[in-house]
Amino acid sequence: MKIDLTINQTPHSFEVEPRTLLVDLLRDTCHLTGTHVGCDTSQCGCCTVLKDGVSIKSCTTLAAQADSCAITTIEGLAQGELHPVQVAFAQCHALQCGFCTPGMIMSSVDLLQKNPNPSDEEIMEALEGNLCRCTGYVNIVAAVRQAAQQMQKRVGAPS
Ligand code: FES
Ligand code: FES
Repeated sequence: MKIDLTINQTPHSFEVEPRTLLVDLLRDTCHLTGTHVGCDTSQCGCCTVLKDGVSIKSCTTLAAQADSCAITTIEGLAQGELHPVQVAFAQCHALQCGFCTPGMIMSSVDLLQKNPNPSDEEIMEALEGNLCRCTGYVNIVAAVRQAAQQMQKRVGAPS
């Protein structure tokens, strides 16, 4: 079947099998290997991407379900400069092996779009579908908190 997707702001058309998973299209066809595969069963979150701005797990999403949608992967998040969430993860040492990091960042971006000033509890709740095998959760929450503060400063909102 033919599908049309915008991936990281670039339009694409693909011929895919109905069973093709979005993560396989991204990694194998588009070579966007920043989207990782950990569990393949929607539990670890390392395959998280944004579909029309909302975080989804691409390991359990068919490519056909993204037809006519805009997909953002970790590679497309930086626009000229790193996204504030990416900067905060680096500054707060919120990554160790880095395997979970792209998914953590994409889920965090989704959270901050919906809730620009989350509490630590809200951050932890939003990231409960993302697992870090290095158990770096304290620094991950600190990074999301710092990113929220930086993004609020950018738009001139009170911190
Ligand atoms: Fe998709 Fe684990 S690989 S949730
Ligand atoms: Fe290693 Fe999270 S940094 S899995």
